[in-house]
Amino acid sequence: MKNILIIGGGAMGSAFTFPCIDNNNRVTITEPYSKRFIKDLSSKYKYHSSLKVKLPKKVRFKNFSKNLLIGKFDLIVVALSLSGINFIGEELRRLKEKTPILVLTKGLKYDKKLNRIFTISDQLKKIYNLRNISVLKGPCLAKELARKKKTSVIIANQNIKAAKDIGRYISTKYYLIEYSKDVVGIEVSSAIKNIYSMIIGAGQNLNTSSNLFQKSMNEMKYFVKYFKGKEETILGLAGVGDLYVSAAGGRNSKMGSYLGRGYTFKSAKKKFMFKDTVEGEQLAREIAPFILKKMSKKNIPLMMNLLKAILKNKKLKIN
Ligand SMILES: NC(=O)c1ccc[n+]([C@@H]2O[C@H](COP(=O)([O-])OP(=O)(O)OC[C@H]3O[C@@H](n4cnc5c(N)ncnc54)[C@H](O)[C@@H]3O)[C@@H](O)[C@H]2O)c1
Repeated sequence: MKNILIIGGGAMGSAFTFPCIDNNNRVTITEPYSKRFIKDLSSKYKYHSSLKVKLPKKVRFKNFSKNLLIGKFDLIVVALSLSGINFIGEELRRLKEKTPILVLTKGLKYDKKLNRIFTISDQLKKIYNLRNISVLKGPCLAKELARKKKTSVIIANQNIKAAKDIGRYISTKYYLIEYSKDVVGIEVSSAIKNIYSMIIGAGQNLNTSSNLFQKSMNEMKYFVKYFKGKEETILGLAGVGDLYVSAAGGRNSKMGSYLGRGYTFKSAKKKFMFKDTVEGEQLAREIAPFILKKMSKKNIPLMMNLLKAILKNKKLKIN
């Protein structure tokens, strides 16, 4: 039995409690930011308003505090949105502990001063001085994991033994784990699939979307190679696997479908998705300055068109 702390009581962090409990761990979840999730998790039956299920009875909720982080945990899981990474980096930096950290968050960060793109694990290591970081990515709808539907994900760490140790703590019959040393390839593909699933969603029929799927794979391959990841990672769970699930359903492809119908980004957001976070949009805005300055545009025509649609509010061109 391991002592696991999950930071982030949103859909993913809460769904992650299921395999952790089913693997007989002691599981604590905490929520540093959202009043809604704090209310859900601190309620008697822990009914999660976004997952629409009750969390396992054995899950313990604790208010977020610096003292909580000092507790003796065997694994700290970060399940916050990208916008929470700086915050948690600062909090964990103070600890100076060697507790393994597992990051579920997907995304990339642009550092304006250095004119560089950081993966999340890079950021936590280089800016916040954290060690012993693994990342877990792959095709996983939180709502399905919370209903124990068979789900396969991949843990990446250059130290593959550390990744496998974590895998042993969290795998179950329905939560299957693969391993990789290609941390950068896994992080880049799992982030940019949010942008490409928007593009695939813009195809208004299966023939067009399949064609966009194939072209997106080529562009994703270019991105992964550009950032010195391994080309074959694109064919794995964090690449084609995650692209499929995001293109088939979810908020990015939904936004893409409006763009494909001829709406501009602003009008689609206002009319249909006012309250929704579209992760692909946030990532596109984050990494656009780097792409526009540094990358060869001819290798990524779909990405360039999507950036125009988001940054300049132009109609999306997909051919
Ligand atoms: N690795 C996987 O298998 C997998 C699967 C699905 C989603 N995800 C990723 O997990 C992350 C969370 O997704 P989700 O579906 O749980 O989202 P969610 O919106 O349900 O939850 C977001 C979480 O981040 C917190 N948060 C938001 N803004 C914050 C801020 N400024 N500071 C601190 N905390 C903040 C929220 O309070 C909440 O805990 C995303 O990056 C998503 O891509 C990972």
